[in-house]
Amino acid sequence: MKEKIIIGSDHGGFALKETLRQVLAEKDFDVCDAGCFDTSSIHYPTIGQEVAERIAEGEFARGILICGTGIGMSLAANRVSNVRATLCHDHLTAKLSREHNNSNVLVLGARILGEETALDILQTWLSTEFGGGRHQERLDMIEKIGK
Ligand code: RB5
Repeated sequence: MKEKIIIGSDHGGFALKETLRQVLAEKDFDVCDAGCFDTSSIHYPTIGQEVAERIAEGEFARGILICGTGIGMSLAANRVSNVRATLCHDHLTAKLSREHNNSNVLVLGARILGEETALDILQTWLSTEFGGGRHQERLDMIEKIGK
């Protein structure tokens, strides 16, 4: 069975989202597109919230969010418990976001990254396993913050 994955962006991330959606489909993922669906200006928190909540509810194990810098989407998605949205800007941050942080939402800044780097980040993030152990203990600490 194909793995389900959800992807969303604002207008600033729309073009990169379209590219990554196609790449994911070619990699045999069952891709849910949460929007946006054109370059009209929208508010990134609406998409960030939807993607994060659908992951937290268990409908998807992981997802991808894209905006201009990736910062707004990171802020929005990380408000949802059990979502670990990680803004990655190169191969190493993509790898460590999985090994150390068990990232379940990859966040990208379309205005920051070239397409080649974005594709490398995607592939690295998709294929790197979480390390567990002491890293899990630290993630458990994060879930308790503010409660
Ligand atoms: C939209 O203008 C822009 O603010 C958004 O794409 C993102 O960069 C926010 O962090």
